Amino acid sequence: MSHSDPHSYTDLSQGRVQSMDIDLAVNFSDRTINGNAVFHLAAAAGGPLDLDTRDLNIVSAQDASGKAIGFELAEADEVIGSRLRVSLPQGAEKFSVQFITSPEASALQWLEPAQTAGGKHPYLFSQCQAIHARSVMPCQDSPLARFTFNCSMTVPEELTVVMAAAPGEKSASEQSGMTTYNFAMPQSIPPYLFAFAVGNITAKELGPRSTCYTEPEMMEKSAWEFAEVDRMLLAAEEIFGPYLWDRFDFLVMPPSFPYGGMENPRLTFLTPTLLAGDRSLVNVLAHELAHSWTGNLVTNASINDFWLNEGFTVWAERRILENMEGLEAKSLSAAIGRNGLMEAMNSFGKGSELTKLEINGEGKDPDEFYSLVPYEKGFLFVALLEETVGREKMDVFVKKYIEHFAFTSLTTAQFEEFLNAELPGVAEQMGAEEWIHQPDLPANAPVFASARLEMLEGLARTWSDGARPEVADAAKWTPEDWQIFLQALPGKLTTEDCAWLNDNFKLNEQGNSEILCNWLQIAINSSFEPAYDRAASFLGEVGRMKYLKPLFNALHCNANTRDLAAKVFAKNADSYHPIARGGLERVLAG
Ligand code: BES
Ligand code: ZN
Repeated sequence: MSHSDPHSYTDLSQGRVQSMDIDLAVNFSDRTINGNAVFHLAAAAGGPLDLDTRDLNIVSAQDASGKAIGFELAEADEVIGSRLRVSLPQGAEKFSVQFITSPEASALQWLEPAQTAGGKHPYLFSQCQAIHARSVMPCQDSPLARFTFNCSMTVPEELTVVMAAAPGEKSASEQSGMTTYNFAMPQSIPPYLFAFAVGNITAKELGPRSTCYTEPEMMEKSAWEFAEVDRMLLAAEEIFGPYLWDRFDFLVMPPSFPYGGMENPRLTFLTPTLLAGDRSLVNVLAHELAHSWTGNLVTNASINDFWLNEGFTVWAERRILENMEGLEAKSLSAAIGRNGLMEAMNSFGKGSELTKLEINGEGKDPDEFYSLVPYEKGFLFVALLEETVGREKMDVFVKKYIEHFAFTSLTTAQFEEFLNAELPGVAEQMGAEEWIHQPDLPANAPVFASARLEMLEGLARTWSDGARPEVADAAKWTPEDWQIFLQALPGKLTTEDCAWLNDNFKLNEQGNSEILCNWLQIAINSSFEPAYDRAASFLGEVGRMKYLKPLFNALHCNANTRDLAAKVFAKNADSYHPIARGGLERVLAG
């Protein structure tokens, strides 16, 4: 047995699934998907083969000739689900499994029409990272087990299916009133990138390689906000080399989508909280685009190596920002990141395992230990590497890294080996061992200073001495300026101070979700009652965990608002995504 991924039952010594033919029939009435999956093996195998499942009902399994074969579904492990062991006849090249998903499938969110922009049609979407693909279909759910696939999805004919794959033909199903959509993914992907959405979804072309998908009611705003997608794609190709996934389309999701964005190949998913109306939050699109290289081409071997995905991607996101908007914008973005990192590190505590880059997450739920550390400590590590070798050598290194590991999944150790081979002595020079294997933030972390950053932070840090921004100046601040300023203010202010900020800058009515979230945290910590209604309404409008978690945490930690936290959660829990609901239950139990 060789379990190289602690979050999967996959044992590649038993056989490797190379491609899958997946047929899914979606039933909105009972919130299930009836599925059939054909597994094609890379080489003939025989005997036991283990797959990951979570809450799946396994109906039957057959060999290549259609003859039933034995299978055994083990008792569920709370974190990683149930091992499905199929018994393959000797020389098996393929086999199939029939299954039905649970209405509680952790990867799926089923929305009532009222939870969509249009209000008329239901909606369904998947979110498989990190280990939820196994709740949609049995699979070798480890990023080490890449596969290609064909997939058909049968849905009510008034709905549209989009998938992170190349669309094929659409045909009337044998079942009346149903339509079948076909897709193919010819490039091999790790299972966490399997993704689809079903709903009243329309399309608008934005560039030669990009189409925006969303509900018709959201199209105008979405197409405007992300109109620069092609410029971004060109900027990203300059850093990384050619884009290998043909299309870079994206889907603007319903508000309950629990993340800012998800880099599903060919079809990035984006939260509608990015629709600020001024393109100020498009960095998330740049981030998901950058994952097309760091993440989707070159993939972390397991969640322990997650920093390889996110650290490089945040670094690339900020390189794209530097290309498009200059160094000052980059320094503000890095400062916002650093604030988030310090907060995450403080909440884990000094010396915590989870503040290392390479971690040991065995036995723990990835959704529980998700944090900004792999993103922002990872970013600082990659930025330090760039600083150490210089931009020219860095660019050569990055392109070579991508080329060398494209379409494979690598461990941190493999990365270190590659770094030593390509740039001898550099790891030692920058203290890579400490960065990667020791907790906390090393003293040689790069600093991205700028005059503007100093001005904004200085102003906020002298707030208690009576310093106040000129109202006319601050009214012209950019959204990044506001985030920097609010994050540097004392966490708790007087009621008068809150009222001054809110009266002068209409913070309760902020349309930028980042600013609003920063403001509401201060307002709640300060027991500023005029913000309570806005906090409650915001928590009913969005499902993005980045906002839900800190706001519920602030409400819960303040004795004056603890009841409000429980009330708002009770009211909205049903409309939160299963992953978000789980996370918030932990916040409210604390
Ligand atoms: N791949 C992540 C989202 C993710 C990570 C989903 C782990 C499930 C498990 C995505 O690329 C991401 O990092 N999104 C960020 C945005 C980014 C700009 C930092 C987010 O959702 O906020
Ligand atoms: Zn990411």
